[in-house]
Amino acid sequence: MDLIVTEGLTRTFGDLVAVDGLSLQVHSGEVFGLLGPNGAGKTTTLRMIAGLIGPTTGTVTVAGERVTDGPKQAQRARRLVGVLPEEVGLYPDLTVAKTLALFARLYHVPPAEAADRIDGLLVRFGLWDRRDAAAATLSKGLKQRLGLARALVHEPPVVLLDEPTANLDPEAATLVRGMLAELRADGRAVVVNTHRLDEAERVCDRVGVLRGRLVAVGTPDHLRDRSKVARLRVELEAWDPAYAEVVAAAGATLVRVDRATVTVDLAAGWAGTPAVVTGLAQAGAAIRAVIPQEESLEDAYLGLVGGAA
Ligand SMILES: Nc1ncnc2c1ncn2[C@@H]1O[C@H](COP(=O)(O)OP(=O)(O)OP(=O)(O)O)[C@@H](O)[C@H]1O
Ligand SMILES: [Mg+2]
Repeated sequence: MDLIVTEGLTRTFGDLVAVDGLSLQVHSGEVFGLLGPNGAGKTTTLRMIAGLIGPTTGTVTVAGERVTDGPKQAQRARRLVGVLPEEVGLYPDLTVAKTLALFARLYHVPPAEAADRIDGLLVRFGLWDRRDAAAATLSKGLKQRLGLARALVHEPPVVLLDEPTANLDPEAATLVRGMLAELRADGRAVVVNTHRLDEAERVCDRVGVLRGRLVAVGTPDHLRDRSKVARLRVELEAWDPAYAEVVAAAGATLVRVDRATVTVDLAAGWAGTPAVVTGLAQAGAAIRAVIPQEESLEDAYLGLVGGAA
């Protein structure tokens, strides 16, 4: 079931089109990564899905509730959504535990359940020892963790996280990835804004590359494959300039030579590997290793984002 549906979502600020005709579906049990450079419209998109700002045109539906139909609908929808905003705003004098208690009340969590749930979140996010500390006294990373706990206190079906691992140490970042896996297993729909490709690759079922408009959508594997070339690294005993012709004759393009290591692109795909290897061997090259080069998601991403400018 699609828990988040946007249709033609567009938001302008004056002359600037921050988000342009975004149509997206995120279903139950899916972690969707919104990836894009600074100013791509990731935060604006998340805020529109959360009903915090209205779109200029287009619609948002979360868990069947049409956020964009009016203030009442937006208010109802907000209860179905947990948000970690880009800047975690906290009441400075409120303690950690009381911050969560306040949000539990605001989101109508039954009082009988709230206490246990809050204790669980405090332990979970490593905030138990600081539960009586005022929010203002927390470090950046701990504020971020409190923001995450706060987003989950009402156990919403839709979770929107704007750069959840920003400011987190590696251990806490691992915790967030574990949390995402649990949210997926629980059947929530999650949108994660991130610049971090390694993270998108590890935790997201699908990724959308945003640059005002959606440049590409797919699984991390799919995005990599879109722009994939078959690239081969051949390690030799020694490079001889005469090998350049051999490589060309075998239907490959020389990308670079670094001492005795040669990198080639195979025009015909991986099937072109034997021709390059036998050609070099026949020309007298001593081959130490033949290594296919996996393209990283980063290469694919830079190709997509660069190409859209
Ligand atoms: N309230 C606003 N008033 C005017 N312009 C805005 C406003 N909010 C966002 N913008 C502009 O809209 C564009 C998209 O901003 P947004 O914050 O959504 O990008 P982002 O992808 O989240 O970037 P980052 O990676 O830096 O967080 C930017 O050009 C930004 O300057
Ligand atoms: Mg942002």
